[in-house]
Amino acid sequence: MSSASTTVNMPTIEVCHGPQCSDSGGRALAAELEEMGLKVCAGDCRSQCAHAPLVLVDNYMISKATTDKVVERLKTLQA
Ligand code: FES
Repeated sequence: MSSASTTVNMPTIEVCHGPQCSDSGGRALAAELEEMGLKVCAGDCRSQCAHAPLVLVDNYMISKATTDKVVERLKTLQA
């Protein structure tokens, strides 16, 4: 019996690990998202430090990101 696999296009979630975003909870946010089972990658500063923490979901910029904002964006992409 062969195992079938399905390919799901998961959006890329990038959490800025720059100093301002890290100080504003970016790394904790990344950990929370990973605990939710999401794959998260560390991003570089995008010069949007005034809007920290910054998250990009498939390059869509989320300012002052929270888990709720990220989940809301993911739901929008799945709709
Ligand atoms: S440190 Fe995150 S945008 Fe600059």
